[in-house]
Amino acid sequence: MESNGASPSIALPLLALSSFFFALAVSVPQITEAGLHCNNSTEIVTSNNFSFRAVMREISESVADQRRGNYSVTSPPPVVYGLAQCEGGLIEMDCPLCFAEIRTRIPRCLPNFGQLYRDGCFLRYDGYDFYNETVDPTHDMLNCSSNSTVPAERATEFSERVDRVLRYVLAKALQNGGFAVAGEDAPEGAVGVYAWAQCWSTLDAGGCRVCLENATSMARSCAPGEEARAMNAGCFLRYSTTKFYDLDSRGSSEVSITKAVVPIVVAIAPSAAVVISLVLIGAWIGYKEYSKKKRVQNSLMQLRASMSKFRLYFKYETLEKATNFFHDSRKLGQGGAGSVYKGILPDKKVVAIKRLVINTQQWADDLFNEVNLISGIQHKNLVKLLGCSIEGPESLLVYEYLSNKSLDQVLLVNNATRILTWEERLHIIIGIAEGLAYLHGGYGVKIIHRDIKASNILLDENLTAKIADFGLARCISPDKSHLCTGIAGTIGYMAPEYLVRGQLTEKADVYAFGVLVLEILTGRKNSVYTQGSSSILQSVWKHYKSTNLAACIDPTLQGKFLVLEASNVLQIGLLCTQASMELRPPMSRVVEMLHDKDQVVPQPNQPPFLNASVLFDISSSRSSTCTHGY
Ligand SMILES: *[C@@H]1O[C@H](CO)[C@@H](O)[C@H](O)[C@H]1NC(C)=O
Ligand SMILES: *[C@@H]1O[C@H](CO)[C@@H](O)[C@H](O)[C@H]1NC(C)=O
Ligand SMILES: *[C@@H]1O[C@H](CO)[C@@H](O)[C@H](O)[C@H]1NC(C)=O
Ligand SMILES: *[C@@H]1O[C@H](CO)[C@@H](O)[C@H](O)[C@H]1NC(C)=O
Ligand SMILES: *[C@@H]1O[C@H](CO)[C@@H](O)[C@H](O)[C@H]1NC(C)=O
Ligand SMILES: *[C@@H]1O[C@H](CO)[C@@H](O)[C@H](O)[C@H]1NC(C)=O
Ligand SMILES: *[C@@H]1O[C@H](CO)[C@@H](O)[C@H](O)[C@H]1NC(C)=O
Ligand SMILES: *[C@@H]1O[C@H](CO)[C@@H](O)[C@H](O)[C@H]1NC(C)=O
Repeated sequence: MESNGASPSIALPLLALSSFFFALAVSVPQITEAGLHCNNSTEIVTSNNFSFRAVMREISESVADQRRGNYSVTSPPPVVYGLAQCEGGLIEMDCPLCFAEIRTRIPRCLPNFGQLYRDGCFLRYDGYDFYNETVDPTHDMLNCSSNSTVPAERATEFSERVDRVLRYVLAKALQNGGFAVAGEDAPEGAVGVYAWAQCWSTLDAGGCRVCLENATSMARSCAPGEEARAMNAGCFLRYSTTKFYDLDSRGSSEVSITKAVVPIVVAIAPSAAVVISLVLIGAWIGYKEYSKKKRVQNSLMQLRASMSKFRLYFKYETLEKATNFFHDSRKLGQGGAGSVYKGILPDKKVVAIKRLVINTQQWADDLFNEVNLISGIQHKNLVKLLGCSIEGPESLLVYEYLSNKSLDQVLLVNNATRILTWEERLHIIIGIAEGLAYLHGGYGVKIIHRDIKASNILLDENLTAKIADFGLARCISPDKSHLCTGIAGTIGYMAPEYLVRGQLTEKADVYAFGVLVLEILTGRKNSVYTQGSSSILQSVWKHYKSTNLAACIDPTLQGKFLVLEASNVLQIGLLCTQASMELRPPMSRVVEMLHDKDQVVPQPNQPPFLNASVLFDISSSRSSTCTHGY
């Protein structure tokens, strides 16, 4: 199954199916990565190449229908052969998930050919007809676990068990059309062995035998290691001491050598004994039911997580069309990481699509992980990331669309058309504080934004602040030259310890937030570039010392604000911009102070007055003049 633009439409049928499948099986998704081999010798295909795209599209559709597919394009060049397959032990539900996972790894290999193994599925695309290939001395992989928990005196016995199970799974797979699982539970004090074998569908029976015979003898050499994976050109074989597949769920292909035998002893016994055993049997059945329910619940949660991931994929073509092929008239802005376009999805939903300038392979991986992480984050004060496309010629991020402008366009532009009232400003400040507090821990993971500034705050129609561009700094920073969200941050908002020593903690965000508060209240940009002119930090601090804070409030408000309230918020801004990061309050504390108007705001220490000429040098060597929006 491929990515999908109108993503919910794909998830819903899956969801409907899930209740059906859970009645049958409890699955542990078998989709962790097992191996990857990229042909790095020549540059052969690119992801927007006609052949490559045609092959990927066809095998995606075929995998969705039949769990496997092979397709090739021999003209125009380059020649591309593709093969993908979900393995027999993978339940229906997990096949699209596994395939989606594997597809996102392709950028690792592009523009070269690649061979990607997961525990439950496989994908290969290459420049020649490899469909009949069984073993390949140069590329076959054997991964033995280095660890053995098998005690030395048991090693021989264990190796024999491995041998038995592997012979059995091989024989069964050959009888069974290329797939089987087999297992042997262990007697008291020893470990069991479980195995899974799968040939690719393009091999005939003879080829499958050659491949699996090789794979089993390779894997056997890993014993007494507790786990092995043989990844051959034509098949995949795994054994493990943990039962990594679910016996109950695959009745027909399942083979179990030693069945647990539950002896039922029927005896003529006193009626009391009969009653007791009935009760015990009842309790036992109840317990089995209970633990099964529990397992269902656990795997449901896992699946939800995987599904929400799955919904994140967008087809490149869909987004291309949504933006009218990135037409200039759709352009919303130019950010540091790329330009942003307004897009209309097939279901008429309006989104903002960010086209990223950097698109290296390693980076696409990082991006994907990051997207997975931050897409789970939902907060009213954070711009929502809807998904991404990373398989096309360039990486795209899809965000919710906000009709209003960014804060700097509303606040800091001379002759701005609207003047924000005091209440609106306070609403915006509280929104930013809550969004940041959430990023700093409300979600369970701590995310440091690194680039809080007016242009990264978007406003919706109710003037609710939404923080944009969070979470991506980590994967963008390796390439500083392109971006303003990397180490450089934005001069004027950068905490002294970060600027001078590169020391990054969430307190750097607190500092930037403090600067932003002072900007919003004074209506002035924190200019540090112009020699001689004092920064707003300096002038607010001066007013604070002369206990006349309210005098720095934006004159365009014409005094329409409560003096005490305004002084308190300014003082909070000063608290956040203190030179010592230990003294700056955490964002959760800031939120409390903003909400509780009766609280006494602590006395701030002096903010750092950084030497403008020093900053000038830094700013010219690091580009940090981007404007964002998204
Ligand atoms: C790379 O792919 C080409 C064409 O498929 C093949 O001839 C070559 O042997 C491969 N080289 C490596 C190192 O995988
Ligand atoms: C390319 O492949 C060769 C042999 O397969 C390997 O030795 C080399 O490390 C690879 N280079 C990269 C950059 O992956
Ligand atoms: C596909 O990519 C190759 C190499 O990058 C290039 O030579 C070829 O012209 C491309 N073909 C098409 C149809 O884009
Ligand atoms: C898939 O592979 C089989 C076996 O090699 C081959 O006969 C068939 O033509 C292939 N199908 C496509 C669409 O390439
Ligand atoms: C399995 O195939 C590989 C080539 O992929 C070969 O080097 C190895 O000797 C074979 N092993 C056995 C036991 O046949
Ligand atoms: C072998 O598998 C383990 C996980 O099972 C993985 O961490 C490791 O990187 C793999 N080794 C190779 C060489 O692929
Ligand atoms: C090896 O096993 C020990 C104990 O079972 C475990 O603590 C350790 O993390 C394992 N190491 C690896 C590389 O799996
Ligand atoms: C595939 O290889 C086997 C030998 O391993 C051979 O008998 C068979 O004819 C081949 N099939 C095709 C379609 O090339």
